[in-house]
Amino acid sequence: MTRRELDPRELPPADAYALLTQLVVPRPIAWVATLAPDGTRNLAPHSYYNIVSSDPPVVHFTSSGEKDTLRNVRASREFVVNVVSRDLADAMNLTATDFPPGEDEFAWAGLDAAPSAVVAPPRVAAAPAALECRLLLELTIGTGTMVFGEVVHVSVDAGVWEDGLVAPERLDAVGRLGKAAYAGTGDPFRLDRVRWRDLSRTAGED
Ligand SMILES: Cc1cc2nc3c(=O)[nH]c(=O)nc-3n(C[C@H](O)[C@H](O)[C@H](O)COP(=O)(O)O)c2cc1C
Repeated sequence: MTRRELDPRELPPADAYALLTQLVVPRPIAWVATLAPDGTRNLAPHSYYNIVSSDPPVVHFTSSGEKDTLRNVRASREFVVNVVSRDLADAMNLTATDFPPGEDEFAWAGLDAAPSAVVAPPRVAAAPAALECRLLLELTIGTGTMVFGEVVHVSVDAGVWEDGLVAPERLDAVGRLGKAAYAGTGDPFRLDRVRWRDLSRTAGED
């Protein structure tokens, strides 16, 4: 089988971006709500996003360059990560528009906001879950600024729970693939973790 071998440092930055974002998939989407110093609500998706630690509970997202979200987080030190369900994908996409500062993306996308429990930025009322965060630290690497937030409150729609767990089919979160492609939760399958204890016992059987 032939393969293409690439040195990403030799690619134009736009091509390196396309390659990496087509290969690091599917990426979860942090739909980040913040407040500007003048109180303007801001909402923007970030797919450079993940968990850093669960004890303490910390997540991060990365701003490519300096955008309203990053400026607002720096000023207020608070943000809310909303989970994007399939029915909210169009609204999420609209909030990625390059609105000038001062535009309220909740209003543009026709989204109701609900008050958060412990931070000032609101959450997206229709989102199935929201992580309320306080800025822990930021780290700039090249064009990316990683924003680490301690999760100080979690709000989850009662309808997504099943037997005490969040059911992936009910959460119905979307992930980002390359270019304009997205993945739905679709057809989740299960893999139980293999333990060395069981594996080594089986290997010794014959
Ligand atoms: C699904 C999706 C994921 C995105 N992920 C990121 C990201 O991880 N980092 C980033 O800086 N921009 C990302 N963007 C682009 C921002 O959402 C866009 O630049 C937005 O206008 C920023 O808004 P703001 O200026 O209000 O912060 C993404 C856009 C989409 C549609």
